[in-house]
Amino acid sequence: MTDTMQSWVQQLRAKGLEPKKLTPEQRAAKEQQDAQAITAKWQAQERNKYLAASLWGDEDKRSFTFEDWQPTKQGENEQTARNVANQAYKVMKELDGQLFNVMFYGKAGTGKTSLALAILAGLTEKYSKMFVSLVEWRDMTYKPFHDEKLQQELAVVEKYMREVDVLILDDFGKETQKEAKEKVAGMLFRLADARKGKATIITSNDNAIALANKYDNATLSRLIPKNPAHVIAMVKLKDIREV
Ligand SMILES: Nc1ncnc2c1ncn2[C@@H]1O[C@H](COP(=O)(O)OP(=O)(O)OP(=O)(O)O)[C@@H](O)[C@H]1O
Ligand SMILES: [Mg+2]
Repeated sequence: MTDTMQSWVQQLRAKGLEPKKLTPEQRAAKEQQDAQAITAKWQAQERNKYLAASLWGDEDKRSFTFEDWQPTKQGENEQTARNVANQAYKVMKELDGQLFNVMFYGKAGTGKTSLALAILAGLTEKYSKMFVSLVEWRDMTYKPFHDEKLQQELAVVEKYMREVDVLILDDFGKETQKEAKEKVAGMLFRLADARKGKATIITSNDNAIALANKYDNATLSRLIPKNPAHVIAMVKLKDIREV
């Protein structure tokens, strides 16, 4: 035993304590347990870095779960509100098994962002998750002045957007047609192409036909779900944003 070990054992004994002796097997098991705990913590941090880099835009950072969804808020459209939440819930369950794209469309204040967030919150921890307001992303990209720090931050955000398993792309198509063509189209195509095999959840005021006037087909075909069960139409609902 080393000198320091010995004096430490003596100190313990003076306090009436006996150091715990581990058998080699117990020690090996403990080391393995510690290593697993460290790995789990590291993996959780890795997953969390994506959400932490989210661009919330006007949304503030918020969370919404299926329990928060109140169909009665929609009055006479209560049944429709139930149906869209059920469809979103099914989508969430299916996403747990396999990643695919999802689209919510409908008027402002009908709950598109809320249900997209509910899906994100309900997914298993095995997926990394991120939220990006398309409007904020565009504004960060096209600042009228050059800001080195912002550019570096943006490079990280865009890398995470390509890598993350499940990405909400909020307020898709909100920019005017001219803007979309000139600025956002290129950004979106590169992103969409890099995200093959992952899940991108878009929320938009426009349906697929209206979006076709704004973006090219190569981008849309990579983002808009082919399966109608993965397109959630919030069309009959009313604006219930509390002001
Ligand atoms: N059925 C609902 N139950 C509870 N809260 C709701 C419901 N629908 C909407 N809300 C609330 O109303 C507000 C607007 O909803 P949300 O932001 O999801 O709408 P949106 O369709 O994304 O609107 P926009 O097109 O303007 O982005 C939010 O505060 C949300 O929590
Ligand atoms: Mg929204």
